[in-house]
Amino acid sequence: MRTQVAIIGGGPSGLLLAQLLQRRGIDSIVLERKTKDYVLARIRAGVLEQGLAGLLEEAGCADRLHAEGFSHDGTLIAYGDEMFRIDFKEHTGTPVIVYGQTEVTRDLYEAREKAGGPIVFNVEDVVIHGADTNTPHVTYTVDGTTQRIDCDFIAGCDGFHGVSRKTIPADLRREYEKVYPFGWLGILSETPPVSHELIYSNTPRGFALASMRNENLCRYYIQCSVDDNIKDWSDDAFWDEFKKRLPADMAAKLVTGPSIEKSIAPLRSFVTEPMRWGRLFLCGDAAHIVPPTGAKGLNTAASDVHYLYNGLREFYETGSADGIDAYSANALSRVWKAERFSWWFSSLMHRYPDQSDFDQRMQIAELEFLRSNKAAQKAMAENYVGLPY
Ligand code: FAD
Ligand code: PHB
Repeated sequence: MRTQVAIIGGGPSGLLLAQLLQRRGIDSIVLERKTKDYVLARIRAGVLEQGLAGLLEEAGCADRLHAEGFSHDGTLIAYGDEMFRIDFKEHTGTPVIVYGQTEVTRDLYEAREKAGGPIVFNVEDVVIHGADTNTPHVTYTVDGTTQRIDCDFIAGCDGFHGVSRKTIPADLRREYEKVYPFGWLGILSETPPVSHELIYSNTPRGFALASMRNENLCRYYIQCSVDDNIKDWSDDAFWDEFKKRLPADMAAKLVTGPSIEKSIAPLRSFVTEPMRWGRLFLCGDAAHIVPPTGAKGLNTAASDVHYLYNGLREFYETGSADGIDAYSANALSRVWKAERFSWWFSSLMHRYPDQSDFDQRMQIAELEFLRSNKAAQKAMAENYVGLPY
């Protein structure tokens, strides 16, 4: 087979890139290791920046987002029984949109299928060849037979555990990592959200987040130990603990119910540099991970797609390689700012095992500063709604 861009990974990065390229007449083949149902069953991000919404519009996949997404003009931050609001609209003029990653991915799959763009599921043994030449190719196995795709470029959109990043020789890449000493236990529950806006809560028992997907679907999280076993967390145990980590007036009106999904995610900050090797470009979680505090993971993947899509478009439309040559530097410049914000917000909101009384007072002092200082609120709001591309 031959295509212009071979895309490894059928998560949101790969699908969005494929769809944007397709609208410009640039061919791609998407290779996905799992089935479509498996990809759609992964419950992940829930808050979208306007930049991602704009890309979905450009990809022709934003109808349902506009019809069913919820615009949020602010978020609530609690510490103990204190709570204050960061007003995105006041400070930036821009809201965020609550719309699940699952739905984004579903819309992208539907558009891809409608456009007749190829996606190969259940691929195994994906290998990238000749990325440092002008004639790269990808081989993979499906149903026991080996296939080969010749292409102009390869987009490595295969997440943190994919093959793309590791294809870049170790002596040419540098990795930066911070692993946090806790995880997030999350549940999805068909209950009405406890608040119209998200609540990020710092308590002596640890962090909690009240998020949502729609009027009758909640996504709630609590900080847990990385060693916790999901089987040891019954729904009742989750609700008990979650309630204790909400301000009392919120806890009093919390509606509980059975969970329909429950999982534990570790927290990590990670960046690999550069994000390009020859004709291979890394996009999204393949190149970087943020802790979920601040909802930057999916949104940062989208900004990579923006830079890569525009670079490839320029290449095919004008012959100029300027955009693709600048890809790694442009993408990383924004990635590091999202890393900083997610690290800062995580550090502000969680209990650390080795945290001293002084460290805890510093968190409270910083929260009180944020509560009372418009400049600090503006800085937070600008980062939360998403820095410009
Ligand atoms: P992925 O979504 O990981 O997609 C990569 C795709 O590549 C997958 O479908 C995978 O099956 C496929 N793949 C992997 N290896 C290969 C291979 N060798 N060949 C072919 N295909 C391959 N972000 C937030 O903002 N908020 C959240 O609450 C949040 N929660 C998260 C919870 C978890 C458990 C995880 C892992 C991430 C979470 N994130 C969250 C981050 C966010 O979901 C990611 O940033 C986003 O999914 C990145 O999209 P992606 O397409 O780059 O990577
Ligand atoms: C979510 O709804 O899953 C979510 C929202 C905000 C975050 C993280 C996760 O910061």
